[in-house]
Amino acid sequence: MALKRIIHFSDTHEPATLEHWHALFDKRMAGVFNSSVMRRKRHDLQLLPRAVEYILETRPDCVVFTGDATSCGQPGEFSRALKFFKPLLKSDIPFLYVPGNHDAYVRDRACVSALKRFTLALSRGKYSVEDYPFALEFDAFRIIALHCARPFNPVLSCGYMEPETVRFLMREAARLKKKPLICAGHFPILGRFSFASARRRLYGAGGAAGLLRDRIIDLSLCGHVHKPYELLDASGRGEIVAGSLTRYGTLAEITYDTEADTFRLRRIHLNR
Ligand SMILES: [Fe+2]
Ligand SMILES: [Fe+2]
Repeated sequence: MALKRIIHFSDTHEPATLEHWHALFDKRMAGVFNSSVMRRKRHDLQLLPRAVEYILETRPDCVVFTGDATSCGQPGEFSRALKFFKPLLKSDIPFLYVPGNHDAYVRDRACVSALKRFTLALSRGKYSVEDYPFALEFDAFRIIALHCARPFNPVLSCGYMEPETVRFLMREAARLKKKPLICAGHFPILGRFSFASARRRLYGAGGAAGLLRDRIIDLSLCGHVHKPYELLDASGRGEIVAGSLTRYGTLAEITYDTEADTFRLRRIHLNR
């Protein structure tokens, strides 16, 4: 029997300041206010080095970070966030990052290239923003990295799954399946449409939700919603929302038992 472990976390949200006068004329204005007034007291950035320490000590088979590394996607936020991940990137533990809506916050050229540099740095120079979706092969499972974050207007924090991404998932689904298929994206794929969720949900993901419900995709790892929750069946298949690491202090540890073909979720509480 072999037990394979994934550590999954999300939504670390490096705080934002106004970095450029251009920010006065776009969504960053409201984002900086939210970050410095609303989020400041609630998020503890010191949980991030603690998480990195835990990961380096316990050496999982893979680490998945499902985005929102920043608050407004500005160059300074990305470079401060990157410093936290440096010890992890120096190790040989596989590390997968997918951008969140706060990382792809505005169309400003400096912000767009900062996300590109960050993505490249977190993949140790292997993947850029243009390379999503892509698949990573592990001996016990296959992980698909999804990038569905696009800059939207100030009142929306939704995502959009491009038709090309859906076609990629369908091609993956059509492959001869020898091991579980896991997808890692920022936005939850499952969940019912409601008027309240319309502002924050993932659009274009009906096909992906079908693959997940039919267990062709075994597991979806995501963030975006800051309070951790999961929708799992008895074999541990379904969707895991890691929640915000810096807000709730939790890591999701997913263990896959290759013999029993089951997943087990354990929440690690770093602030206790
Ligand atoms: Fe977030
Ligand atoms: Fe988000």
